[in-house]
Amino acid sequence: MPSPTLLILPGDGIGLEVMTEVRRVISWFQSEHIIDLEVIEDLVGGAAYDVHGTPLSDETLEKARLADAVLLGAVGGEKYEKLDFSLRPERGLLKLRKELDLFANLRPAQCFDSLADFSSLKKEVVSGLDILIVRELTSGVYFGEPRGIFTEGNERVGINTQRYTESEIERVARTAFDLAMHRACRLCSMEKANVMESGVLWREVVTRVGAEYPSVALSHMYADAGAMQLTRDPKQFDVIVTDNLFGDILSDLAAMLTGSLGMLPSASLGALRKNGRPQALYEPVHGSAPDIANRGIANPSACILSFAMALRYSFDLGTEADRLESAVESALADGIRTADLAQADDQVPVSTTEMGDAILSRLENSKRD
Ligand code: IPM
Ligand code: MG
Repeated sequence: MPSPTLLILPGDGIGLEVMTEVRRVISWFQSEHIIDLEVIEDLVGGAAYDVHGTPLSDETLEKARLADAVLLGAVGGEKYEKLDFSLRPERGLLKLRKELDLFANLRPAQCFDSLADFSSLKKEVVSGLDILIVRELTSGVYFGEPRGIFTEGNERVGINTQRYTESEIERVARTAFDLAMHRACRLCSMEKANVMESGVLWREVVTRVGAEYPSVALSHMYADAGAMQLTRDPKQFDVIVTDNLFGDILSDLAAMLTGSLGMLPSASLGALRKNGRPQALYEPVHGSAPDIANRGIANPSACILSFAMALRYSFDLGTEADRLESAVESALADGIRTADLAQADDQVPVSTTEMGDAILSRLENSKRD
């Protein structure tokens, strides 16, 4: 059997720096003969635009299609902001999501005990928080037609269309139920069935799929009320499933509950392929952070934790994923902090590489546990 392949797309800004640390983690797993992985690498975002004049070349897209998993750093940067919409770095990411049909976006929001003070909410509200937002990623108002800016009479009108088919709702609901089964068996579906027909259909289809999962407690909430409940008492939730736009907003909200964007990974999964693995893209939730790029101070944890998600969902290495996550958690528990997390004035933050070192040394120690 050929080795499974991982396509690394560092992208732009701090994406490059955090990916360097992920490469070291991968090399460690390889040197321990824990994973047998062929790693290939390519350009995406601004970096791809600079070389190929497009944020995602057809060759790169094809490599992504064939890879067992894709790990992306981040895309974007000031110098690309004046480009035409279709050439912007973000379009590379959106194209990857759409072309690979990565319909289920998993965004865990976990509050590490040692970081509970970073949340803007009270410590007791967030400490121990562990929720998973499953966001539909390839449909809804992000892609619905008609869209555009049109002229009507003597003024212009901007149009986007919220559109969901039953099968699109059904497949993401199924993913969310399957994930809930492996967690606390609670799923809350969020839409706006009180004002949107797409929300009425969403609720109906999720309820229908739910009948196949009697052990999962299903509830429904209007997305606005969901936002309110997420800030009032986030620990009431286990898994949340929602559409593309609400998921975009609610996952940013959930991320900030944890207080540390630099810690949050994500996975975008598509259909299962012949080899039994889903088409999959993993990426940190944070962006390319041009303001701190090239200074060696970015927190590599989110990207390393995204690789842990790849171990779990693409390479059937759940135990190793747990082990890597514990290594990150233990570095934090020992007070090791990159600049985004350094709190006390007298605390000297560690660099990106030093954070990588700290995680690697804990991985190494975990061999002896
Ligand atoms: C996200 C981002 C993207 C989105 C942007 C960069 C296109 O906000 O991944 O949440 O809106 O989906
Ligand atoms: Mg977003």
